[in-house]
Amino acid sequence: MPFNTSDLQQTLEHHFKWFHRHPELSNQETGTTARIREILSTTGVTVLDTGLRTGLVARIGPEGNGKVIALRCDIDALPLSEASGLDYASEHASCMHACGHDFHLSAMLGAALLLKEQEQDLAGTVKLIFQPAEEGGGGAQQVLDSGVLDDVQEIYGIHVASELEAGIIAVSPGATYASVGSFRLVIQGKGGHAAAPHECRDPIVAAAQVINAVQSIVSRETSPFDQVVVSVTHIEAGTTWNVIPQEALLEGTFRAFSAEKLGTVATRIEQISRSIAEMYNMDAEYQWHCYTISTNNDPELCEFVVDTAKTLGLRVVPSTPQMSGEDFALYQQRIRGVFWNIGVGSLQGTHHPGFVADPAPLSTAAQLLAALGGAALERG
Ligand code: NI
Repeated sequence: MPFNTSDLQQTLEHHFKWFHRHPELSNQETGTTARIREILSTTGVTVLDTGLRTGLVARIGPEGNGKVIALRCDIDALPLSEASGLDYASEHASCMHACGHDFHLSAMLGAALLLKEQEQDLAGTVKLIFQPAEEGGGGAQQVLDSGVLDDVQEIYGIHVASELEAGIIAVSPGATYASVGSFRLVIQGKGGHAAAPHECRDPIVAAAQVINAVQSIVSRETSPFDQVVVSVTHIEAGTTWNVIPQEALLEGTFRAFSAEKLGTVATRIEQISRSIAEMYNMDAEYQWHCYTISTNNDPELCEFVVDTAKTLGLRVVPSTPQMSGEDFALYQQRIRGVFWNIGVGSLQGTHHPGFVADPAPLSTAAQLLAALGGAALERG
């Protein structure tokens, strides 16, 4: 039975509001996964046995040979207390869909409905990835490790853009989401009575120097035409006013648009921290971790996304580079792909307690996902 767009929109809004009310954190998306499975099973869509603990992969297409295309959404929420004022706000304490993943997965359910309708006409297989744990929980790696993408030739991912008017599509070739690193620094001093600083080695003084000095990596060592972020975001030292503590902990993040630059920044934070610690006769323990590399949209496939969106009558603009990270980048290391945005016109940005995704472009997003899957199979 063919869907008309307003029926599809109504169905997807209904799903979207349910998922928005029931957010779950990374790697804990059991209720979300069960609900996705239930909705897919009522439409007869096959769910693959992937061994994923949360999240799932569905498959649509006639049996036989042909290309295999993947469409990817993510399904996890963030540890935030919602302050949107919506009548379908989160019912789970300190948990909120503040990054639009409820929008992505509802749009993907719409794409599943649309593709299922034309299953016998598809020129190959579409795999729909409902990825868990995008928010730092290793979800993309779990999907890759399951082997479910081993036969996939192209992959397309969706993400909402808060700053764009609802329904506008944004896409550009190359890197649009940043490489993201995190660091942890412990400065080891010597604690003691605050009245006798000369008998101590005060790690707070050293930590303060480090915080200021690492800012010069961006302001003095990076080209003004290059995009780099260094932020110290967590400090812990001391317990009271009259004791010099033994150690100071600093954590933070740094971001860039290439793995090389990310590595350079990581090394410079370490060198600066160690030098300052040494200057004050202290030790520094430094660790850093690459959370994700930058996304890398294939230029040819990017043009294909633009053309497909225009065929549907959508407005397409170039995307604005984001300093946030996306583990979709891990797929793109192995598979040609495009990560594109759809505007949801929120006054507040993603990861903000007041973030509100306009559900109006849900059916548009579903149609574009389905069109990309169907047309990518036919491109030969
Ligand atoms: Ni996100």
